Amino acid sequence: MGRMNLTKEQKQKIEELLAQMTVEEKVGQMNQLSPSIVGGFDVSMEELIEMVTDGRITNEEFGKIMSQAERDFHEDEVRAGKVGSFLLNNPKKANELQRIAVEESRMGIPLIYGLDVIHGFRTTFPIPLAETCSWNPQVFEASAAVAAREASSHGVHWTFAPMVDIARDARWGRISESAGEDPYLGSVYSRAKVRGYQGKNPADRERIAATLKHFVAYGAVEAGQDYNTVSMARSMLHNGYLPPVKAAVEEGAMTVMAAFNDYNGVPCTVNSYLLRSVLKEGYGFEGFVVSDANAIRECVNHGIAEDLADASRKATAAGMDMDMGSNAYNSHLVQQIENKEVSMEALDEAVRRILSVKMALGLFDHPYAEEERMELYDGELNPEHRAVALDAAKRSIVLLKNDNILPLKKEAKIALVGALADDRDNCLGAWFADGRGSDCITVKAGLERAGAQVAYAPCCGVESELQAEELRSVAADADVIVAVVGETNAMSGEASSRADITLPGHQQELLAAALATGKPVVAVLMNGRPLALQWEHEHVPALVETWQLGVTHGDAVAAVLFGDYNPSGKLCATFPAMTGQCPRYYNHPNTGRPASKSKFTSRYLDAPLEPLYPFGYGLSYTEFVYENLKVEEQADTFRVTVQVRNAGSCTGEETVQLYLRDVVGSIVRPVKELKAFEKVTLKPGESREVTLTLAKKDMGFYNDEMEYCLEDGAFIFYVGGNSRDCLKEERRVAFEK
Ligand code: NOJ
Repeated sequence: MGRMNLTKEQKQKIEELLAQMTVEEKVGQMNQLSPSIVGGFDVSMEELIEMVTDGRITNEEFGKIMSQAERDFHEDEVRAGKVGSFLLNNPKKANELQRIAVEESRMGIPLIYGLDVIHGFRTTFPIPLAETCSWNPQVFEASAAVAAREASSHGVHWTFAPMVDIARDARWGRISESAGEDPYLGSVYSRAKVRGYQGKNPADRERIAATLKHFVAYGAVEAGQDYNTVSMARSMLHNGYLPPVKAAVEEGAMTVMAAFNDYNGVPCTVNSYLLRSVLKEGYGFEGFVVSDANAIRECVNHGIAEDLADASRKATAAGMDMDMGSNAYNSHLVQQIENKEVSMEALDEAVRRILSVKMALGLFDHPYAEEERMELYDGELNPEHRAVALDAAKRSIVLLKNDNILPLKKEAKIALVGALADDRDNCLGAWFADGRGSDCITVKAGLERAGAQVAYAPCCGVESELQAEELRSVAADADVIVAVVGETNAMSGEASSRADITLPGHQQELLAAALATGKPVVAVLMNGRPLALQWEHEHVPALVETWQLGVTHGDAVAAVLFGDYNPSGKLCATFPAMTGQCPRYYNHPNTGRPASKSKFTSRYLDAPLEPLYPFGYGLSYTEFVYENLKVEEQADTFRVTVQVRNAGSCTGEETVQLYLRDVVGSIVRPVKELKAFEKVTLKPGESREVTLTLAKKDMGFYNDEMEYCLEDGAFIFYVGGNSRDCLKEERRVAFEK
């Protein structure tokens, strides 16, 4: 598991290097820097960040200002072997610094360049939360492979992705970067991403190293508030949060990033149970662990370290291999080795891991970005990459509600409203590596490109007032109103938790005013998290969740609105009916008083019992009927079959989902757990038997002593098109001892 697959010669080379390196040089390998900004701008850095956050300047303008700023690239430190890694997106500069590292530093060890390539590099793909709604590992892998190809052309060797945090709380802004709430789907996602970034051989020039982040349980920050504390039993950690990490380590992920939060009272950054016992010893992970930005330093704020020196000591002891930006190792480790406060073994272990990744990436053989590829993706978007993005975007859209309005006729006169409909930047979503708003097709442009008759007026921005007169006038002549509503990029992602996840600003008023015209209304939602849409569900006849789909946003939306693509996306995160239901997720542990109409059950007085849209939910323009569930026990597996029939009038793709409930366990078990899914495309009237296979070894769980248990007893098999509406069958199972 988690092998680097190095040859004997490569391993030997690493040992030779280690034997020759000074303590300073070893510590240098563990030090990751970003270029520092020299001098000031016309406004302060904080002000600049605010300006881009509140939309006074675009992402592109921000990027331009930053790229013109004078920077210190720490050349002298690189020359002295005091830097092992850089965060950088600048191929020419990358090669300049690399030349210093390789030719002028004593050991000639290449730098490794890391970057947040989260959902695409130049070709921006749907945000991860959206893409996961495709439930399609080929899609996950293909977009990562394109991102790797483009990023590597800029000299990037390593992406800080995939984020594999299980996210059950829609208030948490970073749910947008996640694959949602389910450990099984999350594992399918994390494995596919690792394959996409790293390929079969990460030393290929078009591949990059992946990072599993954030290790671990960051998605469980209390109340969905970013950077908050986490409280969680070990059994929940191992059953609910670690599976995507374990799966992706098995797939060969080369690096892991520790999470900002604490686990069991110890920040993950200095948590030796997590870094050593679970990851390195337990899973056999052979790559290296990097801290999150500034996180070693933040151990002082956590109150777990007295000062930066103490934090440095604790981090090395716990198995934290690389310091991102805290300057802790850089400032203190050499002295601490001399004083014998930190052991040489700990240092060697970290450096060995870092050198192994550099070796496996082929950096010793080809340290430089290739001149001939440097500008390959800087001009027009690559059409093949755009096509991959469009496929992902269409498959990411989830049809939440449709009272016979969609698909629209091409001849329909559309009144298009909502400022997001014509806003390129906000198609990108949180994080864009080299992504540009100017590449994005908005909903307005997409509809026009599809030949629609569109009259557009913004009428209401995400946070601005409703212009009721503008709405009445644009809608006057229309057959249908398409209202594009939702969140800006800045409302999800890091440091963007919301305490109220209803539609922001006056957008509900916009919808109400649109409905008041008496015309049919379609709400096209653009957002980075599940929203609380109870009112919208009750009033608006059609709701289409389009998230933030990247460069092809508008083309994908147009394809769905006109029925050129029949929506097939299924939610990877529950939509609560109201914010107060958060955290709301389908695989909740059983309780003694499951929610019911009766008062003394686990429920709220003032909220519905159910969420609005359950995990796995998503409509199609056709209808699928499930019949004839059969559960057959075989030697090592259960073979579950079901007949799925397309009972509607157009071809559609369905995701058939298998859930399991372990009825009685030695610890409280979830009410349902996803165990497998299959995709099937059916023509109108067509019926097919779909088979889902569940290995018996996957029917167990970790107890609080961390033992994996397979316990005999009753299990309920559920099969359906979402986690709520399923056929079911109960079986008693006796596992072979
Ligand atoms: C902080 C974020 O938590 C992490 O996900 C990211 O990779 C680093 N910053 C580097 O930008």
